[in-house]
Amino acid sequence: MSKIADITPFEILDSRGNPTIEVEMTSSSGISARASVPSGASKGSHEALEIRDGDEMRFGGLGVLKAIQLIETIIKPKLIGFELGNQKGLDDLLISLDGTRNKGVLGANSILGISLSYARLSAQEGGIPLYVHIASEFRFDPKSSNVTPMFNVINGGLHGSGTIDMQEFLIIPHYTLPFMQKLQMGVELYHSIKKKLHENRKMTSVGDEGGFTPQFYTNNEVLKFLSSSIAPYQNSFHIGLDCAATTYFKQGRYKLIDFKDSSDASLYIQYLEKIIKEFHIVSLEDGLAEDAWTDWAKLTQRVGNSCMIVGDDLLVTNKERLEKAIQSRSCTAILVKVNQVGTLTETYEVIRIAKQAGFRVIISHRSGETTDDFIADLAVGTGADFVKFGAPARGERVAKYNRLFHIYTKLQK
Ligand code: PGA
Ligand code: ZN
Repeated sequence: MSKIADITPFEILDSRGNPTIEVEMTSSSGISARASVPSGASKGSHEALEIRDGDEMRFGGLGVLKAIQLIETIIKPKLIGFELGNQKGLDDLLISLDGTRNKGVLGANSILGISLSYARLSAQEGGIPLYVHIASEFRFDPKSSNVTPMFNVINGGLHGSGTIDMQEFLIIPHYTLPFMQKLQMGVELYHSIKKKLHENRKMTSVGDEGGFTPQFYTNNEVLKFLSSSIAPYQNSFHIGLDCAATTYFKQGRYKLIDFKDSSDASLYIQYLEKIIKEFHIVSLEDGLAEDAWTDWAKLTQRVGNSCMIVGDDLLVTNKERLEKAIQSRSCTAILVKVNQVGTLTETYEVIRIAKQAGFRVIISHRSGETTDDFIADLAVGTGADFVKFGAPARGERVAKYNRLFHIYTKLQK
């Protein structure tokens, strides 16, 4: 087996124009692979740490030269000569080099760039596509993969520019349809939503994840609009929500634009129940604040049978938090983001535990993305149920959908 011969980290830009890390790794046989690292806006406070320069004179403090320096001086010297094809060995070494629970010394951004480029290079060395390489870890046959895309068509909260405080309004095609049909239908619906917004004299500019940011004044108005947009498609589409509720959870209460006053948890849960019923919402992500464990369990007990309850900021792709959620029945699905944890091996472990517990698995992008399409292969290779890659617009989102097009076309041959 070939070995790591060289590692070159770069400072590149993400889709928001903020610096991020890209790593190029070269093998002793002369093959190179690159991977880059995404970044969130509505981060969970329990995520692994991203190292930024904090130097206000460069990129408003968001530069990643410090993280690059850490790769050059600490990580690279330990990895030159390390054999390819041993993801767990590599990730364990990275974890022990860092030595903290939250990757606070070397940074989840530095570590992830190494972990992902190593996986890609190992696949290339083996002469197999990345999703096949990943599937072999899971003993999964990629031919049985049929992910369902959750399209984020209206962007609010920290990803939009208006008054809407819920972050993502999603349309979800019915999971039993074949992937190609789900993707095509989602794209067509995205265009028909744009047309409908025009007809209603609303803006069709897009937010961070490619969804529209029209001038709606309440979350309820958006739900009504979406509900009428999918009406002609009856049973083929359903509505999903990522509330990112921690962003509007203030002093123990939930403050939504829809109501004059803020609500306590029990009143707010009643409201969630009402909209889930009224709009046939099939997936609710981060409906509650990131540490409100008891309320999550309450909500899951009340609506978990008809609506998938998804933990993003609650679980942060973290094994211990996932185990706590399984044991306390706080949700029924996990959003998986590679940069919340920082290594591929830990991501695999979380996916395995989630599947064993019967949780649904959603592979997700971040609002700050690059054109790297790694997570498309990750979704197919791990046999994930859903992907959340934003709207079918903006190059960094479309890159992932196009990779899925490639993969499923090949798999159909
Ligand atoms: P983020 O948002 O990448 O800005 O954290 C995505 C999400 O909350 O799912
Ligand atoms: Zn989320």
